[in-house]
Amino acid sequence: MVYYVKKDADTIGKAIASLFTAQVLKKPDSVLGFATGSSPIPAYQAMIELYKQGVADYSGVTTYNLDEYCGLSHDHDQSYHYFMMHNLFNFINVPHDRIHVPNGLASDFDAEGKAYDAAIDAAGGIELQILGLGNNGHIGFNEPCDVYPQITHKVTLTASTIEANKRFFASADEVPKFAITMGIGTIMKARSIVLVATGKAKAAAVKAMIKDDPTPNCPASILQFHPSVTVFLDADAASML
Ligand code: F6R
Repeated sequence: MVYYVKKDADTIGKAIASLFTAQVLKKPDSVLGFATGSSPIPAYQAMIELYKQGVADYSGVTTYNLDEYCGLSHDHDQSYHYFMMHNLFNFINVPHDRIHVPNGLASDFDAEGKAYDAAIDAAGGIELQILGLGNNGHIGFNEPCDVYPQITHKVTLTASTIEANKRFFASADEVPKFAITMGIGTIMKARSIVLVATGKAKAAAVKAMIKDDPTPNCPASILQFHPSVTVFLDADAASML
């Protein structure tokens, strides 16, 4: 794992956009893994900019997102599918039939999870996965627990995650209580991972991820065992290192 401390979120966004651009230049039919939340937005804006400049071509890629709230349809304005369309996919030339987000309305989440992982494998596996980091150390919606969950599965969101995400909803009561997320095993299979964390609220989780012994109590700490992880931090997120 290597980490860089950069001056601000925009600088980090440009660096990550360059990684994705390099990936599609190197392999135009790459399978790319995406995340939602505030952290990746500057990267998505920079990717859109590079696309508009004609530097990046996403016409050959296939995408898989990390997670989705249970109970929200693709067109719900707080669904992660909607987020991706409105923050990235509508503005680059990724073919819409090759965009994949876990189905939050699945009737059988076990079957949905197995099918999602099987589809990623069948597509050749994720080449480059972007991650954010929860204040509690989660990646995707893999919350702190006793074991690392392996495959895509349904989770109960913790009070800490509901608290952190209520800013996008009218109130905490409206935040869905369940989500479907790639497992830690699914994430660890990505060939390269780039993680972005900014702001003081992430500092303790960043320290646990990078400096402390790996434990499923900080799910992101397992990334210490991944052969290709690049972490981008601002000074606040790096303040406990
Ligand atoms: C989003 C996701 C989450 C977020 C994390 C940080 O798809 O899987 O793990 O990356 O909660 O969220 P922000 O970036 O909003 O602080």
